[in-house]
Order: sequence, then C-alpha cells, then structure tokens
Amino acid sequence: MRPSLSGLLTGLATVAALLLAAPAAHAADPPLRDLATAKNKVIGTAVTGSKLTGTYGEIAGREFNWLTPGNAMKWGSVEPTRGNFNWTEADQIVDFAEAHDQDVRGHTLVWHSQNPSWLDNGTWTPAQLSQLMNDHIALEVGRYKGRLAAWDVVNEPFNEDGTYRQTLWYNGLGADYIAQALTAARAADPAAKLYINDYNVEGVNAKSTALYNLVRDLKARGVPIDGVGLQAHLILGQVPSTLQQNIQRFADLGVDVAITELDIRMQLPSTAAKLAQQRTEYDAVVKACVAVTRCTGVTVWGFTDSDSWIPDTFPGQGAATPYDENYAPKPAYYGIATALGGTVTEPPVPTGCSAAYSVPNQWNTGFTGQVTISCAAGSSLSSWRVAWTFGAGQQVGQAWNANCVQTGTAVSCSNASWNGSVPSGGSVSFGFNGTWSGSNPVPTVTLG
Ligand code: XIL
Repeated sequence: MRPSLSGLLTGLATVAALLLAAPAAHAADPPLRDLATAKNKVIGTAVTGSKLTGTYGEIAGREFNWLTPGNAMKWGSVEPTRGNFNWTEADQIVDFAEAHDQDVRGHTLVWHSQNPSWLDNGTWTPAQLSQLMNDHIALEVGRYKGRLAAWDVVNEPFNEDGTYRQTLWYNGLGADYIAQALTAARAADPAAKLYINDYNVEGVNAKSTALYNLVRDLKARGVPIDGVGLQAHLILGQVPSTLQQNIQRFADLGVDVAITELDIRMQLPSTAAKLAQQRTEYDAVVKACVAVTRCTGVTVWGFTDSDSWIPDTFPGQGAATPYDENYAPKPAYYGIATALGGTVTEPPVPTGCSAAYSVPNQWNTGFTGQVTISCAAGSSLSSWRVAWTFGAGQQVGQAWNANCVQTGTAVSCSNASWNGSVPSGGSVSFGFNGTWSGSNPVPTVTLG
C-alpha cells in the first residue's frame, strides 16, 4: 500500500523531531532567565553599575531578567551632600536593564543604613523629618516613574525580637513612618509594586511574625503595600525549614513575596563538600518560591563571588554566590537551574587535585591571597607546588603554610614541611600578604 501524504508527513515530522531531540540533549543549558520565565518567575541579581561590561555584563544580561542596584539607589549614594544629586550609577543600571529587557527593583528608599551623614547627623523636628522623607521618595521614585517594576520602600524596620528598630525614622515619626513612606511612593509611581524588605524573616519566627502583623494591619487600613521582600542572607546549613510555609502565609494575606537578596555564605575555604551542600540549599530556596504562586521570584545578592558583600562584612566567610570569582558557574548555579525546571548539563564531577586562588581581604595597597589545594575522592598528593603569573604588577610578600618565591611576574609556592600531604577528598590551604595598585585581578593557578 502506498503511504498516504498525511502518513508520510507524520513520518517525516517524527524523523525531524528525533533529529532535533538528539542534539538538544547535549546543547548548552538555557539561561536561568528562560527557565524562570517558563515557571512564571523572575530571576534577578544585585549589580554594581561600573562592572556592567565584559564578562560580568554578559552574564548579568544573559542569565537574569531582574536587576537590583546593590548600592546605587541608596540615599547616601544619590544625595551625598544635601541638594547635590548623583544619579550616574543608578541611571546606568536602569539603562542597562532596559537594553537587556530586564525589570529593575529599586533599592531602597527609607532605611537606617547608608544614609548621607548630613541626614544622619542633622537635628530634625518630626515635621522636618516627614518632609525630608516624603520629598526624597517623591524625587527618587518620580525620577524613575514608569521604568521600575518594584521598590523596596522600607528596608529592615524590625529588630530580631519583632519590636521596631530604633532608627532616625522610627524615633522621629513613630511606626507610622512606614505607612507614610508607602503612601508617598504610591503617589510618585502608581505602577511600581511597593515592598517592605527585611532579613531573618525567611522562616516563621518573632521577626517575620511582626512583619506579618504589620502587613496585615497596613492592608486593613488601606495603606498601599504590594509585597514583602525576604532578603535571605543565609548561612550554609541554616536554611529555615519553614521557608515555604512562611512565604505561603504572607501570600495568603494577599501580597506578593520576593526573595530579594539571596546568598548562602560558608566558612572559607570552600570545599567540594560545602559547595555541593550549597547547591542543595540554593535548590531548596528557589523551589520554595516556585511552589508558591504569589512568590514572584528570586534575586541573588551579587551573582559572582568577586562581587559579594560577604567577605567584607563577615570576615572569614564567603563563596556565597552562584558563580566563582572567575565567573565559572558553581554547583549552586546548577541548584538554581534545576529548581527552575532545567535539565541541566553539568560539568563533569571533578577528579584529581586542583588549586583555587582567592582574595579574602584587600585594602588600599595590600591584600591577603589564599590558595586551596583540593583533591577529589580517589586522588591524593604527598607534596605540591602551585604557580601563577600576576597580571597587574602584584607582589607576593610574607607567606604562611607554604614557601613562595616571585621572579618578575611569576610566582611559585611549594608546600611547607608539614602540609605536603593532601588526602583523598581533602584540602590544604596557604596564604600570603601581597601588594597591588590599580587593579588586583585573580590569576589562573596551576598545580604541578
Ligand atoms: C550591602 C551592599 O551589598 C554592600 O556593598 C554595602 O557595603 C552594604 O550594603 N541588606 C540590604 C542591602 O538591604 O542593601 C545590603 O547591601 C546587604 C544587607
């Protein structure tokens, strides 16, 4: 029997589908933003405006569909001296977002931190304070009217026990400063979603319950409040088990929930085991958001360990973001991708031993470098030597737990008498103080 035309076409379509399906299994993973969109969520990152070029800019534009200025929109950044405004970095980020089809979360209007000193150190009557706050909101929100999707209107209003934090605003205006701020923001841009944002409110606890009660009362009074931001500056091993339940209870109040500043920090040095655990925890946090319809999405507080606030704020801790300092995706990246429904092509599980270089601390002209030599299960070393070339004139000074020599730009460090052995699945670290000027890029290290 001759095949019918439709049968032939169906057969051809099947062959075509098979041909398309086969290579797709090996194709590059879709960017996180495409995965998130398919789940009706957003995936964002905090950014630093001056870095939005080169690899940093490529990743920020390709992987994310929301941006939050890490510092650029804070009061101290935009009005460092009274009446003198600097919108350069904030404008740059908003322009970049529009060029890359991204939404922007404004951060943040009313906070106790990173205010200009003229504001913090001034003496204000309640009426003056109220005017300052309302004018600031009208000006900043008004400037970006129609261009920003959301604002963190009030940041960090609570203490850990659920009482109000004693701030410039609370002390001068009472708890009603929050309602005033939200009302002023709505007037300045009726289309922007208005949020209250805080940390340590991810699980069900005294602080998140205070926030819950506030949002409930604001809604009952008709004060404009659209969402709650859970910052989620988390510690490895301490993701709250009540995260999803907590997101759900806010959603049930009739507000959106966003995870606004996710990072998961660990004690340095990072190890393969810690990074694997971090992957599981990123996956769990993103899944908790995916599971609740009114959770709009997740923003990471910097996508690369080279642009994270953690090492400066929590000495000895770091490796908190989904990309390493050289912009390679870490296991955490794949945790986010799989939580967003990705069928992820992962890099091979590491075998053998490798060395990783980081800069845990840096000041005017000096820095501390750290190198960790790690061996995967099944591999070990009885002695080691690590070498690299400094690309920007850096100079190694005193080293500990290794013997280092520098000739020109070439550095070579070998084990001390007591730490040549790196066991299977284990690691050894050494450190040094160095000098730098201009820039201090991370070199590529080789283990020989
Ligand atoms: C941090 C920035 O990332 C740092 O660069 C800055 O030095 C301090 O502030 N909660 C917030 C963010 O709401 O604005 C903070 O950002 C991190 C904690």
